[in-house]
Parts: sequence; C-alpha cells; structure tokens
Amino acid sequence: MTYGETAVRQTIDRLLSDKRDLDAAADGALDNLDQFHIGGADAVERLIPTLALAHGDVVLDVGSGFGGPARQIARRTGNHVVGIDITPAYVDAARDLTARAGLSDIVRFHNGDIAGFQSDPAFDAALTMHVQMNVRDKTTWFRHIAERLAPGARLAVWEVCQPHRADLPWPMPWSLDGTDSFLVSAETLLACIRDAGFATVEWTNESPWVQDWITKTFANGLPAGPALPMLLDDGYTRVINYTTALANGSLEVWRGCFIKKADWR
Ligand SMILES: C[S@@+](CC[C@H](N)C(=O)[O-])C[C@H]1O[C@@H](n2cnc3c(N)ncnc32)[C@H](O)[C@@H]1O
Repeated sequence: MTYGETAVRQTIDRLLSDKRDLDAAADGALDNLDQFHIGGADAVERLIPTLALAHGDVVLDVGSGFGGPARQIARRTGNHVVGIDITPAYVDAARDLTARAGLSDIVRFHNGDIAGFQSDPAFDAALTMHVQMNVRDKTTWFRHIAERLAPGARLAVWEVCQPHRADLPWPMPWSLDGTDSFLVSAETLLACIRDAGFATVEWTNESPWVQDWITKTFANGLPAGPALPMLLDDGYTRVINYTTALANGSLEVWRGCFIKKADWR
C-alpha cells in the first residue's frame, strides 16, 4: 500500500538524532526531508506569489504530507496554514516537525479527507502539490476544495501529468505499483479544475524548470543529510523512476493558479 509507512516520526527522530549538528528549527534545514514533490522548497517559492496572500489570510494545504510546504509558506508570509492529509503517520510526522520548528501556533494539521472536512470560516487560499495523481474523480475532488474556499480565493497547484499513455516504471513516489495512480494529461486536468468551479489565472508546463532543478540539485550526487527517500518504502527507487520518466518526457510537471469563481455553487 502506498503511504503505508507507519513509523515516520520515529524514523525522523532517529535521523535527526544521528545528525546532532543539524538545527531542525532553522529555515531550510529540512528541505531535503520534508518536501514530498519534485522541485523541493524552490517549487513552493514559485507558488507563494501566485497565492497573493494578504495579512491575516489563512491557507489550506490539501494533501500536506510531512508539512514542508505548509511550514515554508507560514515562515515566508506569516500567514496561518492548515494542512489536511489522509495518512495518519504523515500527519503525526508533520505535527512533530512543526513543533521542532517552533511553528505550532501558526501551522496545524488535520488527519482526514477533504470531502468530510468542516471549516468555518472559509479559507482565503489553498494549494495542493503532487496529490491529485492518487484521485480518480478529480472534478469532485477539486469541488471539495472549492467548497472550503471563500469566493475569489486562489488555488495553486503543482502537479504531475502524463502527456500520452505509456508504461511507467513502478514504483513512483505516489504509487508503489500503479493501482492507485490516476494520471491524466495536462488538458484533462485543467478541464477538471475548471469544471470544479475555478477560473484559470495561469497554467504552465514547468518540466523544463524541473529538469534544470534536478540537474542543479543532484550535480554533486545525492545531497548530504536526512533526505525524503529515507522516510519512504523503496524511496530511492521511486525517486529514480520519477526523475527518469520526467527526463524522457513520459511525465510532465504543471503549475497552475486558479481563482474560485464568485458565482460558484
Ligand atoms: C506525494 S505526497 C505530497 C505531499 C505534500 N503535498 C508535499 O508536496 O510535500 C502525496 C500526499 O497526498 C496524500 N493524499 C493522497 N490522497 C489524498 C486525499 N484524497 N486526500 C488528502 N490527502 C491525500 C498522501 O497521504 C500524501 O501525504
């Protein structure tokens, strides 16, 4: 089962205990560990301006994983961020890392599905990074996100698309064997988001940027210190398969910015 790791917090504890010179609370110290998408913290930096956050806005991170993006947004902007994720062990790890970072007063995490998530008042902005690949009915899923947002709220996405049908090497970061992977083309994903009640501000193929990021990041081999694949079952194979598929064009990464329509219902 993908996302079946149950002892993530304990693994993080061990990794950080082995690396006593690492200040886990320092900005960027855990960027190699807690960002569960291609592009790492640099990708989050690309999304932040598109959220157009104002003072006091509260942000929803859907499929928040280990919480790296949520903490980064809170640090950069001072805005409160709420993450929601269906995997209990990941939420546990996200809370632990947030406490270590001293950010628990402005970054919170819920365990659950966006479909049943009750929030009042509505959120002012949302993001989702590398999650919809696990969702079969994407339009309904994005409608559930829209339900949680105020009219005019922005949604930023950083997503994997498959330009044409092709066999992929499993495991991938979001699926161990392909049975829980529901990849679509960029055109189809855009249609689903629009059908859910969002207007497009920006929809950009970021695959060239991602290739540059991979080249730069791995120019001197694997980064030293605690790294994301150490938290995941078969982690290194998943990352290698993913970067290979991005390099040969079997997969693409798209960045989007959308606005919830004022007449949404
Ligand atoms: C590849 S990780 C990305 C995590 C995070 N967005 C990031 O970029 O660091 C995918 C995450 O989506 C979560 N997830 C998958 N399906 C979900 C769903 N229907 N609702 C909420 N979270 C989901 C998984 O538990 C996992 O944490």
